[in-house]
Amino acid sequence: MSSEKQTQAESGKTVFVKTYGCQMNVYDSERMVSLLRPLGYRTVENAANADLVILNTCHIREKAAEKLYSDLGRLRRTKAESARDMTVAVAGCVAQAEGEEVAERADIVDIVVGPQAYHRLPEMIARAARRTGAVLDTDFSVEEKFDALARNRDADGVSAFVTVQEGCDKFCTFCVVPYTRGAEISRSAAAIISETRALAQAGVREVTLLGQNVNAWTSPAPAAGYGVKARKDGAWGLGELCRAIARIDGVARIRFTTSHPRDMDEALIAALGEEEKLMPYLHLPVQSGADRILKAMNRGHTAADYFDLIARIRAARPDIALSGDFIVGFPGETNSDFEETLALTEAVCYASAYSFKYSRRPGTPAAILAKQVAEDEKDRRLAVLQALLKEQRDAFCAGLVGETLPVLFERPGRKAGQLIGKTPYLQSVHAYAPDSNVGGIAPVRIEAVTPNALAGELAGAADEGRPARMKAGDAQEPRV
Ligand code: SAH
Ligand code: SF4
Ligand code: F3S
Repeated sequence: MSSEKQTQAESGKTVFVKTYGCQMNVYDSERMVSLLRPLGYRTVENAANADLVILNTCHIREKAAEKLYSDLGRLRRTKAESARDMTVAVAGCVAQAEGEEVAERADIVDIVVGPQAYHRLPEMIARAARRTGAVLDTDFSVEEKFDALARNRDADGVSAFVTVQEGCDKFCTFCVVPYTRGAEISRSAAAIISETRALAQAGVREVTLLGQNVNAWTSPAPAAGYGVKARKDGAWGLGELCRAIARIDGVARIRFTTSHPRDMDEALIAALGEEEKLMPYLHLPVQSGADRILKAMNRGHTAADYFDLIARIRAARPDIALSGDFIVGFPGETNSDFEETLALTEAVCYASAYSFKYSRRPGTPAAILAKQVAEDEKDRRLAVLQALLKEQRDAFCAGLVGETLPVLFERPGRKAGQLIGKTPYLQSVHAYAPDSNVGGIAPVRIEAVTPNALAGELAGAADEGRPARMKAGDAQEPRV
């Protein structure tokens, strides 16, 4: 950073962001910070030192939403003790779902901003400064948001998220997302490719394409073509998009999340099999193994459909590591339904997974179903399922011990001389390696499994990694 810029930043304002929930929120939080930087804001690690506090919230389960109110309580004390004239903004899915209630319940909230209105944040901050009551914006206008937010993008790491799709039309009966994020909208291929190119130029090696239903992404084939064959109907799906991104110089790894089993088409499966830069890891939530429950959840497929899909994916990419989401205790779930979830889990064998107790969400169809499952029974089922999933995760990791895997090094580890990177299967790996390996992909022999990661030994030189001009370490450069 030049000294002139430094002085400017130091004299400017400070922002503290706390992010709850999914990766889409992580992406949105980063974009909000990028948007505020030209206004003189720099980030701080502590709310007490902030002029602006943004809580980017999640509404998916009851506990996630409650967290906001307990954090606002704590923030009230921080604000009272702070010498700064703190502005408090609540963003994200709670803002969208119950923004007015938030503003009423917590008088320290100055701004309520829904996920589709972040690009209007600077204007809202200016309005809030007049201190004439809470400023609310929860309009839906996703296309406008996408491109406005991408314009100020900074790249500051080896791995980056790129949102390609937002919203959900699936209306699973337990889920709030279709209400908080709105209808499925795909960003244009050209915009995604140009954002990814700029990231690659700035040294990013791995991109993770994000969407609530990422594999529902679709767009007319772009005129530029990007060397990718369009489908007969002239459209592109996520498979074509991944192939186009694989052609971008500097991009070494591509991932995408979260996929819905219903949208996993043949073109995407073929791309997973053929495109080396697409990593052999797929998060494919199933929620339940019982057809009765899948139907009540409105998932749109049976357990047999899911097995068939997994078989086709494994035929295309035999080493694929599978991950999933599960809900136990959906209304009406019997013990025998739960046993079917266990049987599905046994049959599929997951490398990693997330599992949750069903949480009743006001306004969703399942919330008013009879036969809600007792909390202690949900606890019991969750413990049984999690024990099985942990066994599978441990077995998957143990199977990697002794193998030499390409590891993308992302950052220094806690111990001196250690770096942290990722395997193609998304496990974190610790290995002793020179700092210059950050941003590079190097062969690492896996030696041991630790509770949250793998330990390995460097077994060769890293590839070239980031473009040389980034190695000089100019953190300001380049802007997108
Ligand atoms: N779009 C993705 C993920 C959405 S939310 C998908 O369809 O898979 C992430 C996960 O949260 C879901 O997969 C589900 O397992 C869980 N989830 C969503 N609503 C929930 C609820 N009401 N109670 C418990 N878990 C829930
Ligand atoms: Fe929620 Fe279902 Fe949409 Fe996923 S597909 S976001 S679980 S409604
Ligand atoms: Fe939560 Fe909204 Fe993501 S409800 S999981 S932050 S889409």
